[in-house]
Amino acid sequence: MTSSNAFIETHLEPAVAVILAAGKSTRMRSQIPKALHRVCGLPLTRHVIEACRQAGVQRIVVVIGHGAEQVRQGLGGDVEYVVQAEQLGTGHAALCAQPALRDHQGPILLLAGDVPLLKAETLQRLVAAARQPGIAGAMLVATMEDPTGYGRVLLDSAGYVQRIVEQKDASPEEATIKTWNPSVYCFKGLGLWERLSRVRADNAQKEYYLTDVVELTAADGERVIGVPVADAREVLGVNSRLDLAEVIRVMQERVLRDLMLSGVTIRDPHSTYVDVTVEVAPDTVIEPQTYLLGNTRVASDCVLGPMTVLQDCTVGEGCTIVMSHLEGSTVGRQVRIGPFSRVRPGCLIGDAVKIGDFVELKNAVVGEGVSAAHLSYLGDVEIGAHTNVGAGTITCNYDGFKKHRTTIGEGVFLGSDSILVAPVTIGDGAMTAAGSTITEDVPPNALAIGRVRQITKLEWATRWRNARRKRERMNG
Ligand code: UD1
Ligand code: MG
Repeated sequence: MTSSNAFIETHLEPAVAVILAAGKSTRMRSQIPKALHRVCGLPLTRHVIEACRQAGVQRIVVVIGHGAEQVRQGLGGDVEYVVQAEQLGTGHAALCAQPALRDHQGPILLLAGDVPLLKAETLQRLVAAARQPGIAGAMLVATMEDPTGYGRVLLDSAGYVQRIVEQKDASPEEATIKTWNPSVYCFKGLGLWERLSRVRADNAQKEYYLTDVVELTAADGERVIGVPVADAREVLGVNSRLDLAEVIRVMQERVLRDLMLSGVTIRDPHSTYVDVTVEVAPDTVIEPQTYLLGNTRVASDCVLGPMTVLQDCTVGEGCTIVMSHLEGSTVGRQVRIGPFSRVRPGCLIGDAVKIGDFVELKNAVVGEGVSAAHLSYLGDVEIGAHTNVGAGTITCNYDGFKKHRTTIGEGVFLGSDSILVAPVTIGDGAMTAAGSTITEDVPPNALAIGRVRQITKLEWATRWRNARRKRERMNG
Protein backbone atom coordinates (compact mmCIF):
# COMPACT_ATOMS: atom_id res chain seq x y z
CA MET A 1 0.00 0.00 0.00
CA THR A 2 1.35 3.44 -0.89
CA SER A 3 1.54 6.06 1.81
CA SER A 4 -1.08 8.22 0.05
CA ASN A 5 -3.42 5.26 0.01
CA ALA A 6 -2.77 4.60 3.68
CA PHE A 7 -3.80 8.21 4.25
CA ILE A 8 -7.05 7.67 2.37
CA GLU A 9 -7.84 4.54 4.35
CA THR A 10 -7.17 5.97 7.79
CA HIS A 11 -8.59 9.47 7.45
CA LEU A 12 -11.64 8.92 5.25
CA GLU A 13 -14.42 6.39 5.02
CA PRO A 14 -12.90 3.41 3.23
CA ALA A 15 -14.10 2.41 -0.21
CA VAL A 16 -15.89 -0.92 -0.73
CA ALA A 17 -16.24 -2.82 -3.98
CA VAL A 18 -19.12 -4.63 -5.65
CA ILE A 19 -18.04 -7.00 -8.40
CA LEU A 20 -20.70 -8.27 -10.80
CA ALA A 21 -20.23 -11.90 -11.73
CA ALA A 22 -23.70 -13.38 -11.96
CA GLY A 23 -24.22 -13.17 -15.72
CA LYS A 24 -24.97 -16.15 -17.94
CA SER A 25 -22.05 -15.38 -20.28
CA THR A 26 -23.96 -16.66 -23.30
CA ARG A 27 -21.31 -15.38 -25.70
CA MET A 28 -18.62 -17.60 -24.15
CA ARG A 29 -20.62 -20.68 -25.23
CA SER A 30 -19.43 -22.54 -22.18
CA GLN A 31 -20.68 -24.78 -19.40
CA ILE A 32 -18.13 -23.08 -17.15
CA PRO A 33 -19.27 -19.72 -15.70
CA LYS A 34 -17.31 -16.86 -17.29
CA ALA A 35 -15.92 -15.76 -13.91
CA LEU A 36 -13.99 -19.03 -13.68
CA HIS A 37 -12.32 -19.15 -17.09
CA ARG A 38 -8.59 -19.13 -16.40
CA VAL A 39 -6.35 -16.18 -17.24
CA CYS A 40 -2.65 -16.88 -16.58
CA GLY A 41 -3.29 -19.16 -13.63
CA LEU A 42 -6.23 -17.46 -11.91
CA PRO A 43 -9.97 -17.38 -12.55
CA LEU A 44 -10.94 -14.34 -14.60
CA THR A 45 -12.87 -12.58 -11.82
CA ARG A 46 -10.14 -13.38 -9.26
CA HIS A 47 -7.94 -10.87 -11.13
CA VAL A 48 -10.57 -8.18 -10.49
CA ILE A 49 -10.68 -9.13 -6.79
CA GLU A 50 -6.86 -8.94 -6.60
CA ALA A 51 -6.85 -5.47 -8.20
CA CYS A 52 -9.34 -4.26 -5.57
CA ARG A 53 -7.28 -5.79 -2.76
CA GLN A 54 -4.07 -4.22 -4.04
CA ALA A 55 -5.86 -0.88 -4.25
CA GLY A 56 -6.48 -1.19 -0.51
CA VAL A 57 -10.18 -2.14 -0.66
CA GLN A 58 -10.95 -4.25 2.41
CA ARG A 59 -14.59 -5.13 1.82
CA ILE A 60 -15.43 -6.82 -1.46
CA VAL A 61 -18.92 -8.06 -2.31
CA VAL A 62 -19.20 -10.36 -5.31
CA VAL A 63 -22.61 -10.76 -6.95
CA ILE A 64 -23.07 -14.34 -8.13
CA GLY A 65 -25.99 -16.09 -9.81
CA HIS A 66 -25.38 -18.25 -12.84
CA GLY A 67 -23.44 -21.27 -11.49
CA ALA A 68 -23.37 -19.53 -8.09
CA GLU A 69 -21.97 -22.40 -6.03
CA GLN A 70 -19.29 -23.20 -8.56
CA VAL A 71 -18.25 -19.54 -8.75
CA ARG A 72 -18.16 -19.22 -4.94
CA GLN A 73 -15.92 -22.27 -4.70
CA GLY A 74 -13.72 -21.19 -7.58
CA LEU A 75 -13.17 -17.59 -6.46
CA GLY A 76 -12.32 -18.34 -2.84
CA GLY A 77 -13.63 -17.52 0.60
CA ASP A 78 -11.93 -14.19 1.34
CA VAL A 79 -14.75 -12.05 -0.11
CA GLU A 80 -18.47 -11.69 0.62
CA TYR A 81 -21.05 -13.12 -1.75
CA VAL A 82 -24.59 -12.06 -2.54
CA VAL A 83 -26.84 -13.97 -4.92
CA GLN A 84 -28.73 -12.50 -7.85
CA ALA A 85 -31.32 -15.23 -8.35
CA GLU A 86 -32.40 -14.09 -11.81
CA GLN A 87 -30.07 -12.39 -14.24
CA LEU A 88 -32.06 -9.30 -15.10
CA GLY A 89 -29.12 -7.05 -16.00
CA THR A 90 -26.12 -5.26 -14.53
CA GLY A 91 -28.27 -2.64 -12.74
CA HIS A 92 -30.31 -5.33 -11.04
CA ALA A 93 -27.11 -7.20 -10.12
CA ALA A 94 -25.64 -4.10 -8.44
CA LEU A 95 -28.86 -3.57 -6.48
CA CYS A 96 -28.51 -7.08 -5.04
CA ALA A 97 -25.57 -5.76 -2.98
CA GLN A 98 -27.70 -3.13 -1.28
CA PRO A 99 -28.70 -5.21 1.78
CA ALA A 100 -25.02 -5.95 2.46
CA LEU A 101 -23.85 -2.35 2.04
CA ARG A 102 -26.91 -0.31 3.07
CA ASP A 103 -25.09 1.40 5.94
CA HIS A 104 -21.83 2.02 4.13
CA GLN A 105 -20.91 5.71 4.10
CA GLY A 106 -17.83 5.79 1.86
CA PRO A 107 -17.38 5.40 -1.88
CA ILE A 108 -18.70 2.27 -3.59
CA LEU A 109 -16.74 0.81 -6.49
CA LEU A 110 -18.90 -1.04 -8.98
CA LEU A 111 -17.01 -3.27 -11.38
CA ALA A 112 -17.88 -5.79 -14.03
CA GLY A 113 -16.26 -9.10 -13.15
CA ASP A 114 -14.95 -9.57 -16.69
CA VAL A 115 -12.21 -6.89 -16.82
CA PRO A 116 -9.19 -8.87 -15.57
CA LEU A 117 -6.43 -6.52 -16.78
CA LEU A 118 -7.54 -3.65 -14.56
CA LYS A 119 -4.70 -2.25 -12.42
CA ALA A 120 -4.84 -1.25 -8.75
CA GLU A 121 -3.38 2.22 -9.50
CA THR A 122 -6.27 2.92 -11.85
CA LEU A 123 -8.80 1.99 -9.16
CA GLN A 124 -7.03 4.26 -6.69
CA ARG A 125 -7.22 7.11 -9.21
CA LEU A 126 -10.91 6.44 -9.71
CA VAL A 127 -11.69 6.41 -5.97
CA ALA A 128 -9.72 9.64 -5.51
CA ALA A 129 -11.72 11.26 -8.33
CA ALA A 130 -15.03 10.14 -6.81
CA ARG A 131 -14.04 11.57 -3.43
CA GLN A 132 -13.71 15.09 -4.82
CA PRO A 133 -16.21 17.59 -3.46
CA GLY A 134 -19.12 18.41 -5.77
CA ILE A 135 -18.91 15.07 -7.54
CA ALA A 136 -21.48 12.26 -7.17
CA GLY A 137 -19.35 9.64 -8.79
CA ALA A 138 -16.63 8.81 -11.28
CA MET A 139 -16.26 6.22 -14.00
CA LEU A 140 -13.40 5.05 -16.16
CA VAL A 141 -13.65 5.99 -19.81
CA ALA A 142 -11.56 4.56 -22.63
CA THR A 143 -11.06 5.49 -26.23
CA MET A 144 -10.38 3.28 -29.23
CA GLU A 145 -10.87 3.43 -32.98
CA ASP A 146 -13.52 0.69 -33.02
CA PRO A 147 -15.30 0.12 -29.71
CA THR A 148 -17.99 -2.10 -31.26
CA GLY A 149 -19.93 -3.96 -28.57
CA TYR A 150 -19.17 -1.56 -25.73
CA GLY A 151 -21.50 1.11 -24.31
CA ARG A 152 -20.66 4.59 -25.67
CA VAL A 153 -20.11 7.53 -23.34
CA LEU A 154 -21.89 10.84 -24.02
CA LEU A 155 -20.49 13.94 -22.35
CA ASP A 156 -22.26 17.20 -21.56
CA SER A 157 -20.93 20.60 -22.58
CA ALA A 158 -18.89 20.85 -19.37
CA GLY A 159 -17.22 17.48 -20.01
CA TYR A 160 -19.10 15.48 -17.36
CA VAL A 161 -20.69 12.17 -18.28
CA GLN A 162 -24.29 12.65 -19.24
CA ARG A 163 -25.38 9.22 -20.40
CA ILE A 164 -24.16 5.85 -21.59
CA VAL A 165 -25.82 4.23 -24.55
CA GLU A 166 -25.45 0.52 -25.20
CA GLN A 167 -24.36 -0.63 -28.66
CA LYS A 168 -27.77 -2.23 -29.23
CA ASP A 169 -29.63 0.97 -28.32
CA ALA A 170 -27.29 3.43 -30.07
CA SER A 171 -28.38 5.59 -32.99
CA PRO A 172 -26.05 5.44 -36.03
CA GLU A 173 -24.57 8.75 -34.91
CA GLU A 174 -24.04 7.57 -31.30
CA ALA A 175 -22.41 4.41 -32.63
CA THR A 176 -19.60 6.53 -34.14
CA ILE A 177 -18.53 7.74 -30.66
CA LYS A 178 -15.08 6.39 -29.85
CA THR A 179 -15.24 6.91 -26.09
CA TRP A 180 -16.64 3.85 -24.35
CA ASN A 181 -17.60 2.52 -20.95
CA PRO A 182 -15.28 -0.09 -19.37
CA SER A 183 -17.88 -0.78 -16.64
CA VAL A 184 -15.78 0.41 -13.73
CA TYR A 185 -17.50 3.05 -11.61
CA CYS A 186 -17.19 4.61 -8.18
CA PHE A 187 -20.12 6.40 -6.56
CA LYS A 188 -20.46 8.14 -3.26
CA GLY A 189 -22.82 5.89 -1.28
CA LEU A 190 -25.33 8.70 -0.99
CA GLY A 191 -28.12 8.25 -3.51
CA LEU A 192 -26.67 5.27 -5.36
CA TRP A 193 -29.14 2.67 -4.10
CA GLU A 194 -32.11 4.95 -4.54
CA ARG A 195 -31.10 5.67 -8.16
CA LEU A 196 -30.47 1.99 -8.86
CA SER A 197 -34.01 1.24 -7.72
CA ARG A 198 -35.30 3.77 -10.27
CA VAL A 199 -33.60 2.03 -13.23
CA ARG A 200 -36.12 0.59 -15.73
CA ALA A 201 -35.69 -2.18 -18.29
CA ASP A 202 -36.99 -0.10 -21.21
CA ASN A 203 -34.25 -0.92 -23.74
CA ALA A 204 -33.40 -3.26 -26.60
CA GLN A 205 -32.33 -6.08 -24.27
CA LYS A 206 -35.16 -5.60 -21.73
CA GLU A 207 -32.53 -5.56 -18.99
CA TYR A 208 -31.91 -3.30 -16.01
CA TYR A 209 -28.77 -1.45 -17.07
CA LEU A 210 -26.30 -0.25 -14.44
CA THR A 211 -25.28 2.34 -17.02
CA ASP A 212 -28.61 4.15 -16.53
CA VAL A 213 -27.51 5.21 -13.03
CA VAL A 214 -25.19 7.70 -14.71
CA GLU A 215 -28.03 9.32 -16.62
CA LEU A 216 -30.25 9.39 -13.51
CA THR A 217 -27.43 11.04 -11.54
CA ALA A 218 -26.93 13.68 -14.23
CA ALA A 219 -30.70 14.25 -14.45
CA ASP A 220 -30.68 14.91 -10.67
CA GLY A 221 -28.25 17.76 -11.41
CA GLU A 222 -25.24 15.89 -9.99
CA ARG A 223 -21.89 15.30 -11.64
CA VAL A 224 -20.27 12.10 -12.81
CA ILE A 225 -16.68 12.60 -13.85
CA GLY A 226 -14.99 10.52 -16.56
CA VAL A 227 -11.52 9.23 -15.61
CA PRO A 228 -9.62 8.30 -18.77
CA VAL A 229 -7.50 5.16 -18.93
CA ALA A 230 -4.35 5.80 -20.96
CA ASP A 231 -4.20 2.34 -22.50
CA ALA A 232 -7.59 0.91 -23.43
CA ARG A 233 -6.17 -2.61 -23.31
CA GLU A 234 -6.23 -2.37 -19.52
CA VAL A 235 -10.03 -2.42 -19.51
CA LEU A 236 -10.75 -5.00 -22.21
CA GLY A 237 -13.89 -6.91 -21.25
CA VAL A 238 -14.12 -10.65 -21.82
CA ASN A 239 -17.36 -11.58 -23.54
CA SER A 240 -16.17 -14.25 -26.01
CA ARG A 241 -13.31 -16.71 -26.38
CA LEU A 242 -11.68 -14.22 -28.75
CA ASP A 243 -11.63 -11.62 -25.97
CA LEU A 244 -10.31 -14.28 -23.58
CA ALA A 245 -7.36 -15.05 -25.86
CA GLU A 246 -6.58 -11.35 -26.25
CA VAL A 247 -6.70 -10.73 -22.50
CA ILE A 248 -4.46 -13.74 -21.83
CA ARG A 249 -1.98 -12.43 -24.40
CA VAL A 250 -1.82 -8.97 -22.81
CA MET A 251 -1.54 -10.38 -19.27
CA GLN A 252 1.20 -12.79 -20.40
CA GLU A 253 3.14 -9.89 -21.90
CA ARG A 254 2.88 -8.05 -18.58
CA VAL A 255 4.07 -11.03 -16.53
CA LEU A 256 7.07 -11.67 -18.80
CA ARG A 257 7.96 -7.98 -18.92
CA ASP A 258 7.95 -7.76 -15.12
CA LEU A 259 10.15 -10.87 -14.90
CA MET A 260 12.64 -9.53 -17.44
CA LEU A 261 12.79 -6.15 -15.68
CA SER A 262 13.45 -7.99 -12.42
CA GLY A 263 16.49 -9.76 -13.91
CA VAL A 264 15.21 -12.99 -15.45
CA THR A 265 16.41 -13.83 -18.98
CA ILE A 266 13.63 -15.01 -21.29
CA ARG A 267 15.11 -16.10 -24.57
CA ASP A 268 11.84 -16.14 -26.51
CA PRO A 269 8.91 -14.34 -24.86
CA HIS A 270 6.63 -15.49 -27.68
CA SER A 271 6.87 -19.13 -26.67
CA THR A 272 7.14 -18.74 -22.90
CA TYR A 273 4.12 -19.02 -20.60
CA VAL A 274 4.29 -17.97 -16.97
CA ASP A 275 1.30 -17.69 -14.62
CA VAL A 276 0.87 -14.54 -12.54
CA THR A 277 1.22 -16.72 -9.45
CA VAL A 278 4.80 -17.82 -10.29
CA GLU A 279 7.99 -16.35 -8.79
CA VAL A 280 11.37 -16.52 -10.51
CA ALA A 281 14.57 -15.10 -9.03
CA PRO A 282 17.08 -13.01 -11.03
CA ASP A 283 19.69 -14.61 -13.29
CA THR A 284 17.56 -17.60 -14.06
CA VAL A 285 17.27 -18.25 -17.79
CA ILE A 286 13.99 -19.44 -19.31
CA GLU A 287 14.52 -21.15 -22.66
CA PRO A 288 11.81 -21.35 -25.36
CA GLN A 289 8.66 -23.46 -25.13
CA THR A 290 8.67 -23.44 -21.36
CA TYR A 291 5.62 -23.25 -19.07
CA LEU A 292 5.88 -22.16 -15.43
CA LEU A 293 2.49 -22.70 -13.86
CA GLY A 294 0.53 -22.43 -10.63
CA ASN A 295 2.32 -22.18 -7.35
CA THR A 296 5.85 -22.44 -8.81
CA ARG A 297 8.90 -20.79 -7.21
CA VAL A 298 12.27 -20.84 -8.93
CA ALA A 299 15.48 -19.62 -7.27
CA SER A 300 18.32 -17.81 -9.06
CA ASP A 301 20.86 -19.12 -11.60
CA CYS A 302 18.69 -21.89 -13.01
CA VAL A 303 18.25 -22.81 -16.65
CA LEU A 304 14.72 -23.97 -17.40
CA GLY A 305 13.92 -25.46 -20.80
CA PRO A 306 13.78 -25.61 -23.68
CA MET A 307 10.45 -27.44 -23.66
CA THR A 308 9.89 -27.76 -19.95
CA VAL A 309 6.74 -27.63 -17.82
CA LEU A 310 6.86 -26.82 -14.11
CA GLN A 311 3.49 -26.98 -12.36
CA ASP A 312 3.35 -26.16 -8.63
CA CYS A 313 7.08 -26.81 -8.07
CA THR A 314 9.78 -25.25 -5.92
CA VAL A 315 13.24 -25.25 -7.50
CA GLY A 316 16.47 -24.31 -5.70
CA GLU A 317 19.45 -22.32 -6.98
CA GLY A 318 21.54 -23.37 -9.94
CA CYS A 319 19.35 -26.15 -11.34
CA THR A 320 19.19 -27.15 -15.00
CA ILE A 321 15.92 -28.67 -16.17
CA VAL A 322 15.75 -29.52 -19.86
CA MET A 323 12.80 -30.92 -21.87
CA SER A 324 11.07 -32.28 -18.80
CA HIS A 325 7.71 -32.25 -17.06
CA LEU A 326 7.58 -31.63 -13.30
CA GLU A 327 4.53 -31.39 -11.10
CA GLY A 328 3.87 -30.78 -7.40
CA SER A 329 7.47 -31.37 -6.29
CA THR A 330 10.39 -29.71 -4.54
CA VAL A 331 13.83 -29.68 -6.14
CA GLY A 332 17.02 -28.80 -4.20
CA ARG A 333 20.05 -26.86 -5.41
CA GLN A 334 22.38 -27.66 -8.32
CA VAL A 335 20.09 -30.42 -9.57
CA ARG A 336 20.18 -31.58 -13.20
CA ILE A 337 16.99 -32.97 -14.67
CA GLY A 338 16.35 -34.19 -18.23
CA PRO A 339 16.21 -34.25 -21.08
CA PHE A 340 12.97 -36.25 -21.07
CA SER A 341 12.41 -36.72 -17.35
CA ARG A 342 9.03 -36.82 -15.70
CA VAL A 343 8.62 -35.84 -12.06
CA ARG A 344 5.12 -36.53 -10.79
CA PRO A 345 3.58 -35.06 -7.62
CA GLY A 346 5.04 -35.63 -4.17
CA CYS A 347 8.76 -35.74 -4.95
CA LEU A 348 11.41 -34.20 -2.75
CA ILE A 349 14.68 -34.09 -4.66
CA GLY A 350 17.85 -33.25 -2.72
CA ASP A 351 20.81 -31.07 -3.72
CA ALA A 352 23.15 -32.07 -6.55
CA VAL A 353 20.91 -34.89 -7.75
CA LYS A 354 20.99 -36.02 -11.37
CA ILE A 355 17.79 -37.28 -12.96
CA GLY A 356 18.45 -38.26 -16.55
CA ASP A 357 16.58 -39.21 -19.67
CA PHE A 358 13.41 -41.32 -19.52
CA VAL A 359 13.39 -41.38 -15.75
CA GLU A 360 9.98 -41.14 -14.08
CA LEU A 361 9.68 -40.22 -10.39
CA LYS A 362 6.54 -40.29 -8.28
CA ASN A 363 6.22 -39.70 -4.56
CA ALA A 364 9.98 -40.13 -4.27
CA VAL A 365 12.29 -38.73 -1.61
CA VAL A 366 15.68 -38.55 -3.29
CA GLY A 367 18.75 -37.84 -1.14
CA GLU A 368 21.61 -35.48 -1.91
CA GLY A 369 23.91 -36.47 -4.78
CA VAL A 370 21.81 -39.38 -6.02
CA SER A 371 22.23 -40.24 -9.69
CA ALA A 372 19.43 -41.88 -11.66
CA ALA A 373 20.67 -41.16 -15.13
CA HIS A 374 18.75 -43.42 -17.50
CA LEU A 375 15.47 -45.25 -18.11
CA SER A 376 13.97 -45.78 -14.65
CA TYR A 377 10.66 -45.79 -12.81
CA LEU A 378 11.10 -44.72 -9.20
CA GLY A 379 7.74 -44.54 -7.41
CA ASP A 380 6.81 -44.56 -3.69
CA VAL A 381 10.48 -44.71 -2.82
CA GLU A 382 13.04 -43.22 -0.51
CA ILE A 383 16.60 -43.14 -1.85
CA GLY A 384 19.49 -42.31 0.51
CA ALA A 385 22.24 -39.83 -0.32
CA HIS A 386 24.86 -40.64 -2.97
CA THR A 387 23.14 -43.78 -4.17
CA ASN A 388 23.67 -44.73 -7.81
CA VAL A 389 20.56 -45.96 -9.57
CA GLY A 390 21.63 -48.05 -12.56
CA ALA A 391 20.01 -47.72 -15.97
CA GLY A 392 16.67 -49.46 -16.20
CA THR A 393 16.02 -49.73 -12.45
CA ILE A 394 12.35 -50.15 -11.65
CA THR A 395 10.45 -50.03 -8.37
CA CYS A 396 7.52 -52.44 -8.65
CA ASN A 397 5.27 -50.48 -6.31
CA TYR A 398 1.84 -51.81 -7.31
CA ASP A 399 0.50 -55.32 -6.84
CA GLY A 400 -2.78 -54.67 -8.58
CA PHE A 401 -4.50 -53.69 -5.33
CA LYS A 402 -2.17 -51.54 -3.24
CA LYS A 403 0.92 -49.38 -3.57
CA HIS A 404 3.98 -50.43 -1.55
CA ARG A 405 7.13 -48.52 -0.60
CA THR A 406 10.74 -49.19 -1.46
CA THR A 407 13.45 -47.97 0.89
CA ILE A 408 16.97 -47.64 -0.46
CA GLY A 409 19.79 -46.62 1.88
CA GLU A 410 22.74 -44.28 1.40
CA GLY A 411 25.66 -45.04 -0.90
CA VAL A 412 23.85 -47.98 -2.48
CA PHE A 413 24.84 -49.21 -5.93
CA LEU A 414 21.88 -50.57 -7.86
CA GLY A 415 23.09 -52.51 -10.89
CA SER A 416 21.50 -51.81 -14.24
CA ASP A 417 18.07 -53.33 -14.71
CA SER A 418 17.46 -53.93 -11.02
CA ILE A 419 13.82 -54.78 -10.41
CA LEU A 420 12.87 -53.90 -6.83
CA VAL A 421 9.63 -55.60 -5.80
CA ALA A 422 8.07 -53.51 -3.01
CA PRO A 423 7.80 -53.58 -0.10
CA VAL A 424 11.54 -54.03 0.06
CA THR A 425 14.50 -52.38 1.81
CA ILE A 426 18.07 -52.11 0.54
CA GLY A 427 20.53 -51.33 3.37
CA ASP A 428 23.21 -48.59 3.30
CA GLY A 429 26.18 -49.37 1.11
CA ALA A 430 24.59 -52.50 -0.40
CA MET A 431 24.86 -53.51 -4.05
CA THR A 432 22.50 -55.31 -6.40
CA ALA A 433 23.85 -57.21 -9.36
CA ALA A 434 22.79 -56.02 -12.80
CA GLY A 435 19.63 -57.70 -13.99
CA SER A 436 18.51 -58.73 -10.50
CA THR A 437 14.93 -59.08 -9.36
CA ILE A 438 15.05 -58.16 -5.68
CA THR A 439 12.16 -59.56 -3.64
CA GLU A 440 13.83 -59.77 -0.23
CA ASP A 441 15.44 -57.10 1.95
CA VAL A 442 19.18 -56.62 1.38
CA PRO A 443 21.28 -55.97 4.53
CA PRO A 444 23.77 -53.07 4.58
CA ASN A 445 26.94 -53.58 2.55
CA ALA A 446 25.69 -56.92 1.12
CA LEU A 447 25.58 -57.88 -2.54
CA ALA A 448 22.26 -59.27 -3.73
CA ILE A 449 22.14 -61.29 -6.92
CA GLY A 450 18.67 -62.23 -8.06
CA ARG A 451 19.14 -63.66 -11.54
CA VAL A 452 19.60 -67.01 -13.24
CA ARG A 453 23.23 -68.21 -13.33
CA GLN A 454 24.77 -67.94 -16.79
CA ILE A 455 25.44 -71.12 -18.81
CA THR A 456 28.14 -70.89 -21.52
CA LYS A 457 28.30 -73.66 -24.16
CA LEU A 458 31.62 -73.55 -26.02
CA GLU A 459 31.45 -73.67 -29.87
CA TRP A 460 27.66 -74.14 -29.68
CA ALA A 461 27.08 -71.25 -32.10
CA THR A 462 29.42 -72.71 -34.72
CA ARG A 463 27.72 -76.08 -34.59
CA TRP A 464 24.26 -74.49 -34.86
CA ARG A 465 25.24 -72.37 -37.88
CA ASN A 466 26.84 -75.31 -39.69
CA ALA A 467 23.78 -77.51 -39.17
CA ARG A 468 21.55 -74.67 -40.37
CA ARG A 469 23.58 -74.10 -43.58
CA LYS A 470 23.52 -77.84 -44.39
CA ARG A 471 19.71 -77.91 -44.12
CA GLU A 472 19.36 -74.85 -46.40
CA ARG A 473 21.53 -76.51 -49.07
CA MET A 474 19.51 -79.74 -48.98
CA ASN A 475 16.27 -77.78 -49.38
CA GLY A 476 17.65 -76.39 -52.52
C1 UD1 B 1 -21.32 -3.92 -19.98
C2 UD1 B 1 -21.89 -2.49 -20.04
C3 UD1 B 1 -21.29 -1.76 -21.24
C4 UD1 B 1 -19.78 -1.77 -21.12
C5 UD1 B 1 -19.23 -3.19 -20.96
C6 UD1 B 1 -17.75 -3.13 -20.62
C7 UD1 B 1 -24.16 -2.59 -19.15
C8 UD1 B 1 -25.60 -2.58 -19.47
N1 UD1 B 1 -23.31 -2.55 -20.17
O1 UD1 B 1 -21.72 -4.60 -21.15
O2 UD1 B 1 -21.77 -0.42 -21.27
O3 UD1 B 1 -19.21 -1.14 -22.26
O4 UD1 B 1 -19.89 -3.87 -19.87
O5 UD1 B 1 -17.17 -4.38 -20.54
O6 UD1 B 1 -23.81 -2.60 -17.98
N2 UD1 B 1 -23.88 -9.43 -14.79
C9 UD1 B 1 -24.54 -9.83 -13.66
N3 UD1 B 1 -25.90 -9.96 -13.69
C10 UD1 B 1 -26.62 -9.72 -14.82
C11 UD1 B 1 -25.92 -9.31 -15.98
C12 UD1 B 1 -24.55 -9.18 -15.95
O7 UD1 B 1 -23.92 -10.06 -12.62
O8 UD1 B 1 -27.86 -9.86 -14.75
C13 UD1 B 1 -22.40 -9.31 -14.74
C14 UD1 B 1 -21.70 -10.23 -15.70
O9 UD1 B 1 -21.41 -11.49 -15.09
C15 UD1 B 1 -20.43 -9.47 -16.06
C16 UD1 B 1 -20.84 -8.01 -15.86
O10 UD1 B 1 -22.03 -8.01 -15.12
O11 UD1 B 1 -19.35 -9.75 -15.21
C17 UD1 B 1 -21.05 -7.30 -17.19
O12 UD1 B 1 -22.02 -8.01 -17.93
P1 UD1 B 1 -21.85 -8.27 -19.49
O13 UD1 B 1 -23.01 -9.06 -19.96
O14 UD1 B 1 -20.51 -8.74 -19.79
O15 UD1 B 1 -22.06 -6.77 -20.03
P2 UD1 B 1 -21.49 -6.18 -21.38
O16 UD1 B 1 -22.38 -6.57 -22.48
O17 UD1 B 1 -20.06 -6.49 -21.50
MG1 MG C 1 -18.82 -7.80 -20.55
